[in-house]
Amino acid sequence: MKRVFGVFGDPIAHSLSPAMHNAAFSALGMECIYHAFRVKPEKLEKAILGAEAMGFGGLNLTVPLKEVALKLDCIKPDSLAEKIGAVNTVVFGETGEIKGYNTDGLGAKQALQNSAVEIKGSKIVVAGAGGAARSIAFQLAADGAEITIVNRTEGRAIELAKDISAAALSGSVTGRGFSGLKDLLQDANILINTTTLGMHPNVDTAIATAEDLHPDLTVFDIVYNPLETRLLREAKTSGAKTVSGVLMLVYQGAEAFRLWTGIEPPVELMKKTVLEALQ
Ligand code: ATR
Repeated sequence: MKRVFGVFGDPIAHSLSPAMHNAAFSALGMECIYHAFRVKPEKLEKAILGAEAMGFGGLNLTVPLKEVALKLDCIKPDSLAEKIGAVNTVVFGETGEIKGYNTDGLGAKQALQNSAVEIKGSKIVVAGAGGAARSIAFQLAADGAEITIVNRTEGRAIELAKDISAAALSGSVTGRGFSGLKDLLQDANILINTTTLGMHPNVDTAIATAEDLHPDLTVFDIVYNPLETRLLREAKTSGAKTVSGVLMLVYQGAEAFRLWTGIEPPVELMKKTVLEALQ
């Protein structure tokens, strides 16, 4: 079994992935290590080939490398990663093949499902139209949700919705700007924030306030720094159900762990480790 794993990104110093995966390896008695490496986009291919040559088992890729990775000749992406246009997990096979996957959307899906939130047939508002919105909207549309992407720059939302719709998934996807968001939310089941609003250091900003929300809504903020964002506080005030972004981090990591090792990771321990690191 291969024993070295890692995450590549830039910046990478504050990544929670090493603590999360090392805790999992240790709890399972696996003599494996996971380390963070600062890698610039123009050096990504060399770094991946170097890791393969040194016998790494697998990698996570984070900002700004996920989209770059998809275009590299050395990686063979699976069809979901190809559609999403980004790779966040690399698996080094026994015979030298390098495979690329994207577990971000699955992480978001499992965060909702494990919080007892129904996806199929739900009306979901996804705020933001960047890479995170893309992987989440792809996955949830594939699971039969009716998705509206809302974004500050309306054109990006419309473009992304068009792109996802072209994949003919079972759900539907439309895109629009922020105006009329309150009315849209009144009729929605789930709001997912993928924008940087509320993220450190912009901790006082939020995509919506309590008067825009309602008790039948689930509010999922993928921002986990700070742990309780302004949006989640507003959601609690309105009586809405809340889902923490930490869960997406943990479940996307757990899925990567399964792809690398074929072993079921200790998900609760991974969550506890991340929460402790964020306290
Ligand atoms: P990621 O790949 O992590 O999703 P990204 O591609 O940088 O990140 O996307 C960031 C998202 O946050 C975008 O949807 C961006 O909106 P624009 O497309 O209009 O730039 C959104 N965003 C960032 N700052 C924002 C702000 N102050 N108000 C509203 N939306 C914001």
